[in-house]
Amino acid sequence: MTDAYQTIIIFGATGDLAHRMLFPSLYNLYLDRLLPSDVQIIASGRSVMDDEAFRASIELPDDRYDAEEAAAFLTRIRYCPVSGEAAQFAALRDMVGDRIDRGVAVYLSTPPSLFAPMVAGLGKAGLAGPTVRIAMEKPIGHDLASSRDVNDAVNAVFDEDRVFRVDHYLGKETVQNLLVLRFGNMLFEPLWSARGIEHVQITVAETVGLEGRVSYYDGVGALKDMVQNHMLQLLALVAMEAPASMTPAAVRDEKVKVIRSLRPMSPDTVEQLSVRGQYGAGAVGGEPVKGYADELGHRSDTETFVALKAHIDNWRWAGVPFYLRTGKRMPERSSEILIQFRPVPHSIFAKKGKGLQPNTMLIRIQPQENIQLQVMAKQPGLDRHGLNLREVALDVSLSTEAAGQRRRIAYERLLLDLIEGDPTLFVRRDEVEAAWTWIDSIHQAWTQANVPARPYTAGTWGPSAAIALIERDGASWHE
Ligand code: BG6
Repeated sequence: MTDAYQTIIIFGATGDLAHRMLFPSLYNLYLDRLLPSDVQIIASGRSVMDDEAFRASIELPDDRYDAEEAAAFLTRIRYCPVSGEAAQFAALRDMVGDRIDRGVAVYLSTPPSLFAPMVAGLGKAGLAGPTVRIAMEKPIGHDLASSRDVNDAVNAVFDEDRVFRVDHYLGKETVQNLLVLRFGNMLFEPLWSARGIEHVQITVAETVGLEGRVSYYDGVGALKDMVQNHMLQLLALVAMEAPASMTPAAVRDEKVKVIRSLRPMSPDTVEQLSVRGQYGAGAVGGEPVKGYADELGHRSDTETFVALKAHIDNWRWAGVPFYLRTGKRMPERSSEILIQFRPVPHSIFAKKGKGLQPNTMLIRIQPQENIQLQVMAKQPGLDRHGLNLREVALDVSLSTEAAGQRRRIAYERLLLDLIEGDPTLFVRRDEVEAAWTWIDSIHQAWTQANVPARPYTAGTWGPSAAIALIERDGASWHE
């Protein structure tokens, strides 16, 4: 802990993310004595208020609330209004004072349009030296060109090794567990390629709709909001080669290679390989909900659902489709990865038995956290007319295995890594840009081929074309 940076500045501190995630996470870390004993948190937003008013606006998690601890935690927080003026940055610099020598971690939880001006302001105020790191939330740009602009502006002030791009999926326990599952076990790796795997499915389904995020979401859509970042990170972890070690460079080098190997889509292929959808009125969890256009107040072509058939053009994955789908207003909240193994090369049960199925591995990320391997077993009995085979589940429930251990908010892990300076679970510039390159190919192909967002009823699994996308190949989505 001696190396941990002792000052944390949060821009956008009055915003939703800071209130829902960042301050509760910092409080949890504080309770666990994982923050430096002399930590100071400087909250910054556009509104003018004093320390007390800001402290009073923070809600701490009920499950771990302790009045004495909470009061002590809040004294660690100061407030400094910054809306962009040089004098405000100078005041912030004064507040940091000589603590700058003991390290400052800046977290930009602001709208992305402010990344460049905030970073420039920090630079001019002398708050960007070698003892300052900067973290920022997605989205980094809205396409390759704009992401380069943002990255150029950030890198003009902060060297890349001091830039921590947050993808909160990488802070989730089961996502990190993917690395352990793959590279901490001998069992799966020999089969983990086109030789043993027929296809992979990655689903991130949400029940929520727009959630009042109209100004951000409309015009962005599911491809840029979810696939460009979270889903490609999941895909990279599933598909990457074994890194030489668990170091930031080694892990990120392997991830970026996968993202660069994604086969671009074109106007000729995009209709076979993708489906866009937008929810209409329906019901989720028994409650009637409005359609997207009604929530918005006008018609829109933004997709709230996307399904893709991706190909990774490298030796390991040649010919193995990766089916990705994500959507809002789906029947349930669930993020999962299904690995569909190939059938046995020759079935000795073909004539004398029935029920043989290829193995599957289901990795559930949320809300449950478990890994389930379906293997074949014999149904008990005398089998006078041939063996009856059936699937049985080898089930590792992480919540049961780790019962009693508190499940941490993804941001706890990420904030701790930020102040301790471990960028392994943050996204490097080349990864962001490789992801945008692929996403741009899809987006441009949609525009050129006029691919519409097809309607689906809220509370269903998306347009029927998404089912056809996978069923054409003789497979079906796991539900
Ligand atoms: C965010 C997206 O990055 O991730 C949201 O902008 C989405 O649209 C959210 O709802 C999903 O995160 P989680 O952790 O709830 O799966």
